[in-house]
Amino acid sequence: MAKSHYDWKDGPAKLEQHSVAKHNLLRSYLSAYFPTLVSSPHQEELRLTIVDGFAGGGAYTHNTTGELILGSPFICLQAAEEAEARINHSERIKKVRFNVDYIFVEKSRDAANHLAKTVNEQGYGLRVGKDVQLLQGDFNTHADNIIEHVHKKTPRSGRSIFVLDQYGYTQVPMSLLAKIFQALPRAEVILTFNVDSFNSYASDKSERSPLENIGLPNVFQGRSLQDIKNNERDWRAYIQSQLYPHIVRSAGSRFHTPFFIRSAKGHGDFWLLHLSMHQKARDVMTEVHWEHSNTFIHYGGEGLDMFKIGYITSADERFTQQGKLGYTFDDDARKRTEEKLHLDIPRLIYANEDGQSFETLHATTCNDSPATARIYKGVLGSLAKQGEIDIVSPDGRHKTSANQIKDEDRILPPRQRKLFT
Ligand SMILES: C[S@@+](CC[C@H](N)C(=O)[O-])C[C@H]1O[C@@H](n2cnc3c(N)ncnc32)[C@H](O)[C@@H]1O
Repeated sequence: MAKSHYDWKDGPAKLEQHSVAKHNLLRSYLSAYFPTLVSSPHQEELRLTIVDGFAGGGAYTHNTTGELILGSPFICLQAAEEAEARINHSERIKKVRFNVDYIFVEKSRDAANHLAKTVNEQGYGLRVGKDVQLLQGDFNTHADNIIEHVHKKTPRSGRSIFVLDQYGYTQVPMSLLAKIFQALPRAEVILTFNVDSFNSYASDKSERSPLENIGLPNVFQGRSLQDIKNNERDWRAYIQSQLYPHIVRSAGSRFHTPFFIRSAKGHGDFWLLHLSMHQKARDVMTEVHWEHSNTFIHYGGEGLDMFKIGYITSADERFTQQGKLGYTFDDDARKRTEEKLHLDIPRLIYANEDGQSFETLHATTCNDSPATARIYKGVLGSLAKQGEIDIVSPDGRHKTSANQIKDEDRILPPRQRKLFT
C-alpha cells in the first residue's frame, strides 16, 4: 500500500507534493469543465453532482511553509463558485443557476470529523444536509445510494464527476466503475492509482493478487511484477500500456486519458486516469495536461498509436540523452506530436477515399493519443495547406485554416491524388 498515509487525528495532515499536483489538476479541470455545461445564452440552470469518494480530512499544512492548504472537497466547492461568477458575467442577460450537489465520503472517523470541522470553519456549515452531504464510511458501501441520488437529480444524463483519490490502487473495484458508467451516461471518473504500491507485493501464484481482487485478473499474463521490473526497459511504461486497456475495458467508459503525475524524482508513480463517456470531456482533460506541462509524464508514443510496441522508450534513457525527461507535455513534446500526426493522419485518411468527419477521426483515435483536438486541427490545417488532405464542410466549402474546422467537416484524401494513383 502507499508508503505514508495522511493523519488528521491531531489537526491538519502534512501535505505531500503529489497532492499539490492532483489539486492543481482538479482545480483546472473543473474550471475548464463548467463552461462546457453551459451551451446556450438562454440556459437557466446547470445540474451536476460532484462526488469526492475519498475526501480526506479537508485541510493540510504544507510541510515546508506551514501554510494551511484546503483539500479536494474545497477545490470542488470553490471551483463551482468561481465558475458561477465567471459564467454569470455582467453582460450575460440570462443568469445560469448552479444546481450542484456535493457528496463527500470519507472512511476514517478522524478524517471525517476533521472534514466536518473544516467545512464549518470555511463557512459551508449551513449547507450540510442540503447541497453538501458528508458521509462517513466506505465509498463502496455508499456507492449505490450515491448513484441513485445522481440518477434522481439528472434522470437522463446522470451528469456527475466522481473524484476517486484512493490510497494505493485496491479500493476501487472495476465492477463499481462499470456500475457508474452503466447507470450514468454522463458520468466522469478521475481515479488515482499509485503504481509505486505495486512494489510491496510480490506476485505469488498461490495467492490472489490485489489486481485480481479489484477485477483485473491476469493482466500481466502470469508474469510477476518483480520479473517485469527486472526485465522491462521501463516498468512504468509497461504497466501503463498493459494495464490501461484492461481497466478501461472493465470499466466500460468510452474515453480516457492515462498519464502519470511526476514525482520529485522525475518519474511518475501516481497514475491519474480520467474516464468518461464523452469525447469533449476527454479533450478538456487532455488540454489540462498540456496546461500543466512538466507536472505530467507519459511513457508512450506521440502520434495516434501511443502504446504500439516499439514506441516505448525508457524515461531514464530520455533523461540521460536529452538532459530532461521525454514526454512531459512541453513545447518539445508538442513539436514531436505535431510531426508524428503529420505522418499518422494522412495514412489513416488515405485508407478510405470517402474520408471521415473530424468528429469521427477524433473520437476513434483520441484515446490512443496524447494530442488535443486543437493539436489535431492545427496539423489538419497545415496538411490541407500542403495539399496532403482536403477538408470540406457539409455545404462544400474547402478549408485550410485550423480554427475553422468543425466536427461535421469531412477530412478526405485530396482530389488530385486520385488522378495519379
Ligand atoms: C489520498 S487521501 C484523499 C485526499 C483528498 N482527496 C484530498 O485531495 O484532499 C485518501 C482518503 O481516503 C480515505 N479512504 C480510504 N479508504 C476509503 C474508502 N474505502 N472509502 C472512503 N474513503 C476511504 C482515507 O482515509 C483518506 O482520507
